[in-house]
Amino acid sequence: MNLPAHGDAGGKVILLGEHAVVYGRPALVAGVPLRLSVDLQAGVGPRVDSDAVRDDDRPVQLLRAAARHFGIDAGELVATVRSALPPGAGFGSSAALVIATVRAVAAAAGTTLSGKALLRLGRELEATFHGQSSGVDPAAAALGGCFWYALASHAAVGGVPAHRDASDDVEPPCVGSVPLPRPLSLVVARATGPRRTGAAVGGLRERWTADRPRYDALFDRVAAIVARGTAALASGDLPALGRAFDDNQAVLAELGVSSPAIDDLVAVARRAGAFGAKLTGGGAGGAVIALAADPTSLATALAGAGATTQTLVVDATPAVAA
Ligand code: MEV
Repeated sequence: MNLPAHGDAGGKVILLGEHAVVYGRPALVAGVPLRLSVDLQAGVGPRVDSDAVRDDDRPVQLLRAAARHFGIDAGELVATVRSALPPGAGFGSSAALVIATVRAVAAAAGTTLSGKALLRLGRELEATFHGQSSGVDPAAAALGGCFWYALASHAAVGGVPAHRDASDDVEPPCVGSVPLPRPLSLVVARATGPRRTGAAVGGLRERWTADRPRYDALFDRVAAIVARGTAALASGDLPALGRAFDDNQAVLAELGVSSPAIDDLVAVARRAGAFGAKLTGGGAGGAVIALAADPTSLATALAGAGATTQTLVVDATPAVAA
């Protein structure tokens, strides 16, 4: 084994389309400049020392599964995780842990994965944390940048074409890199403490199973909003992107994945003049993202309402080459 070994990965925000993406509709996602790293050393394992996840055996299960995949002995691996990503906030910390662990274990096994293989394995292993998953979070952790993502094949979303690369075809899933005319500043306000995405995804699955026509129609509405929002982002039209945030939030509330704390912060952001605001990621708590001409005064208004805020400039480096 090649030890010590290192892997890292970035966090993400879902700009538009969470939940509907599990059902084949596209989502718009952006990498954020917050990273998580995994360092592997020889020792008595499998063991994970983490500043991000405590009282949770899933990181150890993940390390075991990744070691099995690469044919090495997890019993000799001790992992140290360092993360700038708050867990349970919608920033994709579990997916970043998955991708960073896979990269570190691959390095220990003396190999690297192609982009497509990394996305496939990342999606498979993310089920350790979220059960049913679209794979958008591990894709964002692996690829970075800003892109649309769909499980179903799409030629383009919002005028942004799907990526095609004969050397390492990334489909399925289907992704398209969204060019950003200028960096995008987002105000992120955390509504509640950590919550589990898997519970929100599972609850929606039960509602969908009970009434597919209603929920499929809502997912179709989300798909149209994602297309409009992607075109707005690619052309730098922040007011139009903000309207897409608001419209998506209305559907997310109908899907039953918002919460009173989220609704309150969205209302504060709008009163403070935001172009738009919505939950991001699993919802049912977590964080709100908001867009404004003046992010500093928006962040001040949200902090005044008791939220922990952060202004993030989303990662505009091109996606796709993993
Ligand atoms: C979580 O960040 C995004 C969800 O759509 C779940 C998924 O796509 O796997 C809620």
